[in-house]
Amino acid sequence: MDAGLFQQTAHSPSYFELARRLGDGGRQLVDFCIPCNPYFPTPEMFDELSRNLEAVLKFYPSDADTIAAQLARVLGLNPATMAMSNGSTELITWMDHLWFTESVAIPIPTFGRWTDQPMETGKRVDMFPLREIDGFRLNVDHYLRFIRARRSKVAVLCNPNNPDGGYLPRREVIRFMDELADLDLVVIDESFIDFVDAERDPSVAMDAAIRPNVVVLKSLGKNFGLHGIRFGYLVANPGLAGTMRRTLPKWNLNSLAETVVYMLAEHGAEYRESLRLLARDRYTMGMHLAQLPELTVYSSQANFLLVKLSAAIDGTELRDYLISRHQLFIRECGNKLGMSNRFVRLVVRPQQDVARLVSAMHAYSHPQWEDELALRRNAARSA
Ligand SMILES: Cc1ncc(COP(=O)(O)O)c(C=O)c1O
Repeated sequence: MDAGLFQQTAHSPSYFELARRLGDGGRQLVDFCIPCNPYFPTPEMFDELSRNLEAVLKFYPSDADTIAAQLARVLGLNPATMAMSNGSTELITWMDHLWFTESVAIPIPTFGRWTDQPMETGKRVDMFPLREIDGFRLNVDHYLRFIRARRSKVAVLCNPNNPDGGYLPRREVIRFMDELADLDLVVIDESFIDFVDAERDPSVAMDAAIRPNVVVLKSLGKNFGLHGIRFGYLVANPGLAGTMRRTLPKWNLNSLAETVVYMLAEHGAEYRESLRLLARDRYTMGMHLAQLPELTVYSSQANFLLVKLSAAIDGTELRDYLISRHQLFIRECGNKLGMSNRFVRLVVRPQQDVARLVSAMHAYSHPQWEDELALRRNAARSA
């Protein structure tokens, strides 16, 4: 496995790229890197999609307004307050072009596009460091003071945050928006909010729709575990949402996205069940990982866990070892601002995958365990 593949960009190599490199070994690949929802869509939904594949690939989708109107019906939102996009990254790009005039405040570490996009267009990025000593928890008062001191024009808050999964209760987010009612824009990135189980209605989307300067961003790809489709949306007051809709390129949504949006109306129960199972897995995975003395696991409300490695372990070496020896793909965080290669992000996965990861981590720290694992693998294969 060519480790150089990991050094090429700020992001991880794609699943497809890795599977091509691994050849036959790619079939065994377990992805702890890309935050999918392992329980949704259900196998029955995938069968339905497969049956429709020919039409999906052959025919043009409906326009974005038609697809967004259906999504609004399913979510119980007013379509005038929404704009739908080819992944939420498309909206980050356009928000920067339209509304980020001078400077943007953002806690770090976070999703790379929040710092890279405005920097690429010459804006000042005011980075507010989340501290390891605080478990990367955001203190709203400290962040507000920082925004005022820097005179930032726009403020962003990811809730839950990536890569740590840190979550700010809804009332704190409301207070944050209230305090910043005079800013050009406040963006609440709720790409991972559906995975929260700390409170019943964590989203502030409805509140954004009635405020002059707030945008809430959502990534359906993240919630539904369908990153490949590329669909996200924003919720804001009709003026802001309308400006975004008029700005987005025509035909920016594809037929697969349209098909899935229309399927959602019938599969709400399965989706809710997938979130319940995921929250259960997050809890058990956190417990299993925390038992390894080499790891510190941070509390998360997203579908991934941030883990700190003991000083004896280099995250880059661990990542290369896990992929080449065990076909386990993890996110080493050394190339994220505010992180180092002592941190890795592990996507929440079902228990049998976690057992495989825990054994492989153990083998990394205790090389004699590697032989035992190989024996077990051979025995399982010949059984
Ligand atoms: C916090 C956050 N916002 C937005 C995105 C972009 O998601 P999408 O796949 O919808 O472009 C990501 C992707 O990792 C993310 O972590």
